[in-house]
Amino acid sequence: MRERKMEHELGLDFLRVVEAAAIASAHTMGQGDRKYSDQVAVEAMRDVMDTLPMRGEIVIGEGERDEAPMLYIGEKVGLGYKNTASGDDKFPEVDIAVDPLEGTNLCAMGSANAIAVMACAEKNGLLRAPDIYMEKLIVGPSSKGAVRLDAPVKENLEAIARRLDRDIEDLVVIVLDRPRHKKLIDDIREAKARIRLITDGDLSAGISAAVAGSGVHAVMGIGGAPEGVLTAAAMKCLNGQILARFVLKEQLEDQEDRSRIPEGVVDRMREMGIEDPRRIYDTDDLAPGKHIIFAATGVTDGTILRGVRFFGTGTRTHSIIMASERDKFVRFIDTVHVEGGPDTVVRF
Ligand code: FBP
Repeated sequence: MRERKMEHELGLDFLRVVEAAAIASAHTMGQGDRKYSDQVAVEAMRDVMDTLPMRGEIVIGEGERDEAPMLYIGEKVGLGYKNTASGDDKFPEVDIAVDPLEGTNLCAMGSANAIAVMACAEKNGLLRAPDIYMEKLIVGPSSKGAVRLDAPVKENLEAIARRLDRDIEDLVVIVLDRPRHKKLIDDIREAKARIRLITDGDLSAGISAAVAGSGVHAVMGIGGAPEGVLTAAAMKCLNGQILARFVLKEQLEDQEDRSRIPEGVVDRMREMGIEDPRRIYDTDDLAPGKHIIFAATGVTDGTILRGVRFFGTGTRTHSIIMASERDKFVRFIDTVHVEGGPDTVVRF
């Protein structure tokens, strides 16, 4: 009963959270300052989050407490903590994963597919993952169960093509354009599938892969682990699949990539409850929650979400909000935030 309430009561509240973050960062679009774009998204998200009727704990956030002033891992948010640090138990207890601006560079450059994202689940419903890299393979509902993380690229592409009843040549695979993906890109090219190389944003790419008609059939390669957990939350709602495995320093050749892995990360992972740092995770391992809500708003125009539009007397946002399991739904929401006076014109 409590979980059912959680979905109904918090669903639209989360929409306000991602809308606020998207609007704030969209104001900075193209200004070339990715840190500032992220900062305004974080502040806007945090402000709205604190008005929500919940006892939330950030499990995927902006980093550890000493490196992020807000929305850091372990931070308590929501009305349930407003008057008491131990939490008011009339509010539901939830775990929260956020990426206030996924694709900070995309926003700073005015490029496609920057989004504001959050997901929520009952306690322990989302994996606590450090901000390191993860190897990922993401497919939509038709290809669920047909692929393996360790299978040769060609074998996975053949399996996806078979499930989608088409030739490998007809598939589109999204890959982050990074030196570490040279072999992966060569293998996909050799198998003759088509590739869309992206500069950033493998989370929105993963969502596209799970939405039929987007023209995207899989996402492959190494990206951020926090984005991997958020992708899993989205896959639970869209019936897609993510297979993933943490990547440690020794698996990375590129010096710049290696520098992103902090010393002592394996101990830190153990503290977070990750015993085997090289295990393969399936969707349910990354997002084991039974009652997941996922919300995202477009910041810049993208494959499935339009970006924020400002029209002087108002703002228009385009979002997706979805729930898993019971009362499963996927809503695309086009919102006009009317900010002008009584003569404001709202267009269709
Ligand atoms: P930010 O939103 O933090 O800028 O991350 C964007 C992103 O492209 C993710 O989508 C992706 O998972 C990760 O960065 C890849 O990391 P790297 O840029 O180090 O290859």
